[in-house]
Amino acid sequence: MIQIAVLGYGTVGSGVVEVINTNHESINKRVGQEVNIKYVLDLRDFPGDPVEKVLVHDYEIIINDPEVDIVVEVMGGVEPAYTFTKRALQAGKSVCTSNKELVARHGLELLKIAEEKNINYMFEASCGGGIPIIRPLHSSLTADEIDEISGILNGTTNYILSKMQAENADFEEVLKEAQEKGYAERNPEADVEGYDACRKIAILSSLAFGNHVNYEEIYTEGITKITVEDMKYASALDMSIKLLATSKKENDKFYAMVSPVLVGTDSPLYSVNDVFNAIFVHGNVLGDAMFYGSGAGKLPTASAVVGDVVDCAKHLHENVMTSWNSEKLDLMDIKEVVH
Ligand code: HSE
Repeated sequence: MIQIAVLGYGTVGSGVVEVINTNHESINKRVGQEVNIKYVLDLRDFPGDPVEKVLVHDYEIIINDPEVDIVVEVMGGVEPAYTFTKRALQAGKSVCTSNKELVARHGLELLKIAEEKNINYMFEASCGGGIPIIRPLHSSLTADEIDEISGILNGTTNYILSKMQAENADFEEVLKEAQEKGYAERNPEADVEGYDACRKIAILSSLAFGNHVNYEEIYTEGITKITVEDMKYASALDMSIKLLATSKKENDKFYAMVSPVLVGTDSPLYSVNDVFNAIFVHGNVLGDAMFYGSGAGKLPTASAVVGDVVDCAKHLHENVMTSWNSEKLDLMDIKEVVH
């Protein structure tokens, strides 16, 4: 039996429990043995909820239990997630996460620990919600020299922009709706200021280019200055406003940015609305590929997390998720990008 511990019972954590319970038969079949949730760690109590039976409030119980094979970190934020993840990996427990802030900041270090311990640190859910993008970049597309990744990487801002444009809706009102639907971060500043998309493009670029891309070097502008008036102009031009995250590599240099842009009807991104994400990848032998789907929300994100749990369970003592190079690429000047 594979024993797992889920850290955090918020939107994604409760989704992970739901996915494992709903699809337990097919998941167990794929793994070849039963996957059991032994613990859920949360500071709150959930009286009457089935999770009550496995709920713990002390991480020491999990870290000191040798039966726990896989830790699912869906707490969000850097601490205590970083300390908990590092301790789990050092104790030989694989970790699956949706925590993009942690992966962007400490992913390289955590991947290296997992490599040393011959286990895995997996983070498919950190970018694009339910869309498979980490695995393709890490394995299927490794014959390519990827030189460009761009797209819509934040569901909350895409939801807000789509509604503002279609319904002349007010920014604050639509943000509230996105929060109620469980798309937004606990602190929605990360969504609307573009920080979430910035962390995601840094993770994808590090994987695709094979060198560490520091998210702090990426020019980032959010959507807080976009008005209904701007939306009316965009519509009059037959265009839509999208928050795009873009990164390009040329030789040993790279350029990345997050910013709202006008998108015309000739672009496939024009009709990516609501909470959907779309990620465009260009490789020297592949040409173009596009990944599209539900970019945020409880079940799509949980689906990606549990996919990682299945993969970790199938490779319990084998490191399959390798790290990228710690050498940084030089940053290109914008003038070198826009000819
Ligand atoms: N707040 C994030 C978004 C959640 O809206 O895209 C998924 O990473």
